[in-house]
Amino acid sequence: MIGIDIVEIFRIEKMINRFGNKALKKFLSQKEINLAKKSATKAGFWAAKEAASKAIGTGIGKDCNFSDIKISKTKTGQPIIKYKKKIRKKFKIQNSSLSITHDGGFAIAVVVVTIYS
Ligand SMILES: CC(C)(COP(=O)(O)OP(=O)(O)OC[C@H]1O[C@@H](n2cnc3c(N)ncnc32)[C@H](O)[C@@H]1OP(=O)(O)O)[C@@H](O)C(=O)NCCC(=O)NCCS
Repeated sequence: MIGIDIVEIFRIEKMINRFGNKALKKFLSQKEINLAKKSATKAGFWAAKEAASKAIGTGIGKDCNFSDIKISKTKTGQPIIKYKKKIRKKFKIQNSSLSITHDGGFAIAVVVVTIYS
């Protein structure tokens, strides 16, 4: 299963300028806030979570919210995506992978999920 999302980096910047830390906490955990120093990275994380929700077919909402999806990074900077256990169980998720890019004012993320058959 696959999900994709694109976000205008300026839209995320505006949201953060207007609502501050509250805006960040709406879609990121404290660990993720510490990781995402640049606004392009923050926008990439937003896109990643939206893409992850699309990959399992729910979108962001009651069945999968921003805090059900966790992002971290390897030592070399590769982003890692992991769904919370209740989501992994419900959707039979075996593995999930994430790739992020940003250029020209936009951040794009793709999430691929494999499921147990
Ligand atoms: C990692 C790399 C592919 C990123 O490509 P880019 O065109 O510069 O930037 P993009 O916007 O497409 O991608 C950036 C995102 O890639 C992801 N990324 C970073 N390192 C990564 C890695 N090792 N593996 C997979 N994804 C990675 C991150 O999500 C990053 O966004 P973030 O920093 O906001 O979290 C590129 O910088 C690279 O190859 N770097 C390592 C080698 C290098 O530095 N070579 C330069 C001299 S040869």
